[in-house]
Amino acid sequence: MVQLDGVARRIIAAIKEQIHSGAYRPGDRLPSTRVFAAEWGASRTTVTAAYGQLIAEGYLIVRPGARAIVAPGLEAASVEMSAPSDLPRNLSAFARRLLALPAPLEPQPARIADFRYGELAGSDFPVLAWRRASNKAILQRSVRLRYGDPQGASHLRGALQGYLWRARGISCAPDQIVIVNGSQQGLDLCARLLLDPGDRFVIENPGYPMARHAFVAAGGVALPLAVDSDGLRTDLLQPARMAYVTPSHQFPLGGVLSASRRRSLLAWAAGTGAYIVEDDYDGEYRHDIAPIPPLQVLGPDSVIYVGTLSKTLSPTLRLGYLVVPVGLRQVFSEAKRLTDRHAPMLEQEALADLLSSGAYERHVRTIRRKNAERREILLQALTDHFGPKVTVVGADTGLHVVAWMDGIDAEHELAIIGAARAAGVGLYPVSPLYDPTEPRPETAGFIIGYAGLDAEALRRGATVLAAVLAEHQFGSAQVHGDR
Ligand SMILES: Cc1ncc(COP(=O)(O)O)c(C=O)c1O
Repeated sequence: MVQLDGVARRIIAAIKEQIHSGAYRPGDRLPSTRVFAAEWGASRTTVTAAYGQLIAEGYLIVRPGARAIVAPGLEAASVEMSAPSDLPRNLSAFARRLLALPAPLEPQPARIADFRYGELAGSDFPVLAWRRASNKAILQRSVRLRYGDPQGASHLRGALQGYLWRARGISCAPDQIVIVNGSQQGLDLCARLLLDPGDRFVIENPGYPMARHAFVAAGGVALPLAVDSDGLRTDLLQPARMAYVTPSHQFPLGGVLSASRRRSLLAWAAGTGAYIVEDDYDGEYRHDIAPIPPLQVLGPDSVIYVGTLSKTLSPTLRLGYLVVPVGLRQVFSEAKRLTDRHAPMLEQEALADLLSSGAYERHVRTIRRKNAERREILLQALTDHFGPKVTVVGADTGLHVVAWMDGIDAEHELAIIGAARAAGVGLYPVSPLYDPTEPRPETAGFIIGYAGLDAEALRRGATVLAAVLAEHQFGSAQVHGDR
């Protein structure tokens, strides 16, 4: 086979482009390889190789002793392929719904502190423990490299069963566990398996956009319900096919679903036949309150429990798990198989080892302590700089808080973010987490993630933020204190 160099590939692309645009039409003769080579400053060998490739692909034909001509029949293709449009054609309804979703906020580098939520500090990753577990996994060489169980490695599911019982009080069989590539894949599988286009789903407002988007892309119609400090307002429930909730730590405002609302939600599910998708994304982090048992414990037949390793190990691993009701096991397993066969085995085996050796739980204790310290520092810095001018919510649990800038109108959010960015601080508004069809809050609010930052960055970030607000005098708020 002739190896094509970069110049040959560019020549091929240029000739194809000329054919597609109609500049060369079927039957037109191309320049001889000698002339072409001279025009391009390329060697004749390169041009001959490029022509040869175009002949092989059917773009050109040659007769002995004559120059290459454009093959017949490319006319129709040229008209079709030259249609000037940025929009891809013949997309599915799914693709069209996907393209209609709002674009995600792109991360931008921040010199001093990036309060972007969802990121962990690289230094918190348990490098040694993970390396040990990965080494063990890689050395377990099997005779054949074969596809694994779509639900996940049996070791891992066994180890997770024990962990879920110890850490979250969940009693399930390993067979009910499906290992997924992060919660996001779990949500996508729920969307595909539980919703038909036009079906309504309940979602918290404000809520997790990546869940909303997965369900909307599947054709679901959002039924956004307000939340308060007790989580989802279950008094507002209406018939729907599915409900997505974050009962242990409402995302983003942090309410914990009260016992009576848990009962109402489960009764609603039993009455309507709907499934509840319980996203327990940061269940490991309880700072001021006792661990709250998941909804799954109360309603194992109605609840699909979603867990992730993104908040304790790393969001880059793409490892998460579902605990599904017994009756849904098979369909989730088959859907996972069709999606990608199964999650990568080496990572699964390494995680299984981490869990069964006790290293994972030791790591969780360490990272919980570190994040509790970060939270303390952030809360103190916010108090020092803003005092009563800021209302912080959702700080009892999790890895982020929401700070409402009392007295500052929401219309200033973008300007504050821009000014903070210019001063080296990444700041993210709460407003995009509200359903686009519902009213947005009137006060400026920010979601502040702290798990990726060290003490110095947290303090300096808060200082800069205070200075930005003071300097620009957004709204009527006065910012006081400085350290
Ligand atoms: C509400 C919620 N669920 C789940 C996740 C984790 O997603 P994944 O497991 O796909 O990384 C996040 C991450 O930020 C989140 O905020």
